[in-house]
Amino acid sequence: MTKRSLRDLPPQALDGKRALVRVDFNVPLKDGRVTDDTRLRASLPTITYLREKGARVVLLSHLGRPKGGPEPKYSLRQVVHDLERLLGAPLEFIADPESGVSTTRRLPRGGVALVENTRFWPGEEQNDAGLARTFAALGDLYVNDAFGSAHRAHASTEGVAHLVKPAVAGFLMERELQYLGELLDKPKRPFIAVLGGAKISGKIDVIRALLPKVDALLIGGAMACTFFGAMGLEVGNSLVEPDRFTLAQELLKTSGKKLILPRGAVIAPSLERAGEHRSVTADAIPKGWAVYDIDAATQHDFRARLLDAKTIFWNGPMGVFETPPFDAGTRAVAAALVEAGAKGAVTVVGGGDSVAAVAGMEDKLTHVSTGGGASLELLEGKTLPGVAALENA
Ligand code: 3PG
Ligand code: MG
Repeated sequence: MTKRSLRDLPPQALDGKRALVRVDFNVPLKDGRVTDDTRLRASLPTITYLREKGARVVLLSHLGRPKGGPEPKYSLRQVVHDLERLLGAPLEFIADPESGVSTTRRLPRGGVALVENTRFWPGEEQNDAGLARTFAALGDLYVNDAFGSAHRAHASTEGVAHLVKPAVAGFLMERELQYLGELLDKPKRPFIAVLGGAKISGKIDVIRALLPKVDALLIGGAMACTFFGAMGLEVGNSLVEPDRFTLAQELLKTSGKKLILPRGAVIAPSLERAGEHRSVTADAIPKGWAVYDIDAATQHDFRARLLDAKTIFWNGPMGVFETPPFDAGTRAVAAALVEAGAKGAVTVVGGGDSVAAVAGMEDKLTHVSTGGGASLELLEGKTLPGVAALENA
């Protein structure tokens, strides 16, 4: 179901109105500073548009996972500096949504306020009706641009959307739903998905949902070792989930030739002993060693397949890419996406770890999602509560 967009609202619905905008400013921080401002930048088209139309913009977001009360290390005050720099305008900070209503009314046309972390108030994660009403009092219209949080039925993403009308999708939300949705609807073929990461357990539903839709599903990361183990191969000390062997066997049996596993791996005795790394074929992983990346033969194989694709979806690193040299496989997949994109393929990267792997290449990819869990749940075919609560177009 297509959702009503901010684009569809007439100017008089925006001019002078308080636009309550749920954004996803759950950004990585170190020593009180934002280390990756992708999610801040991704919210700018919606915020800028609203300001240009004369709206007073009130931003709502969560940050991290505080345990039901204020914790300084999760304060959104830490993003104010970067957001002001990106907006080129000062921000009002609203420390408490209840007493903040007067601040929202005093905002000038085009002014922007940021409310403190929604998870500082009990009831956000329970989707409490009282807290949703408190948030609702901060706006005359509601815009949800927090795609990364759309899989959460929280007071600021779901509850509030029923209390403020109109309740519409922002530009980032629209873009995410369009690109991720098109993958499932009518992908140009061949359609190849690449899945990596540590655990098969977290990706099992997306593997199941994608298998019937893709022409091939390439598996990397520690997840591949669970498949190796299920095939009866020695996996040494690699990260595996033995309780998923049966499941992996079932997937191997039902997927036909679509499921493509790594031909070989880069192994080491441990991460600390990365210097001793070497490459082996998948059937020659010695006891006492562990898999940390796909090998060069697999990189070549994956690249060749990806260069034939017309649509590619990628989620999850191929190895422990934070620890060189085990970043090589992930970098090779990123490079292959860019190469395939230059030949006309649609290239979509799911959020989470893979985003860091394509840092600096965003403009050579069709779409890099700002959602981790949300993008996977969408591809699994699940309803995202934050989207469902918005008005239909
Ligand atoms: C994310 O970064 O995955 C989203 O902001 C959602 O955060 P959460 O997983 O803590 O709900
Ligand atoms: Mg998450």
